Amino acid sequence: GKRIMITAGPTYEKIDPVRFIGNYSSGKMGFALAEECARRGAEVTLIAGPVNVQCTMNNVQRVDVESCQQMYDAAVHAFPQMDAAILCAAVADFRPAEVADQKIKRVGKTMDIHLVPNPDIAAELGRMKREGQTLVGFALETNDEQQNAQHKLEKKNLDFIVLNSLRNEGTCFKSDENQISIISRKAKKDYDKKAKADVARDIIDELVKNLS
Ligand code: PMT
Repeated sequence: GKRIMITAGPTYEKIDPVRFIGNYSSGKMGFALAEECARRGAEVTLIAGPVNVQCTMNNVQRVDVESCQQMYDAAVHAFPQMDAAILCAAVADFRPAEVADQKIKRVGKTMDIHLVPNPDIAAELGRMKREGQTLVGFALETNDEQQNAQHKLEKKNLDFIVLNSLRNEGTCFKSDENQISIISRKAKKDYDKKAKADVARDIIDELVKNLS
């Protein structure tokens, strides 16, 4: 009966009608979380960037978006009605300042794209969070993992953060497995590499402890 919002997948930031800035997120981790919440009886709002994965469960309401701004608008709109949010999406921190109306032609030897910052969805939800709501973030790191994750936990006012590192082969983007640590203000717990469905179970076990 809890209402849980999950962001999943990448965002695409348009350069022109045929090109974008994006990343390798497949949506698998976020969709596994949505399915695990739904399996336990939650009402799930799944805000998904452009992905090729499906979710067939009845109690998952899927909202498809493309850009960070669209994901931000959907998340900020839905969050006040939620008991918790899990922010698993790999969101582009910057977007092109201007989107060309027509396909950009190959002229000159180099090309510059001026980027401007995107809103930070997690940080905004951290500001909006009220008593009784739980906010969970992810940290995808390549170095100084624990330090960076801890910084994001504080900066975005999260209740706990799920750290995954690209240094662990066969995990994170696109793969069917992941290896995580869960870091809260009080504790850090390291988990073995396992299927994303099982990782989702570990994360939701931790979330349940935080829900009132
Ligand atoms: O989709 P898969 O292929 O299964 O891969 C899963 C995953 C590797 C994408 C996932 O496990 C993961 O790590 N997701 C977070 C990726 C990320 O962008 O992390 P970050 O450290 O850059 O961001 C920190 C947190 O802030 C994240 O919760 C992110 O969703 C959030 N964020 C970031 C930027 C932004 N503008 N808005 C945000 O809400």
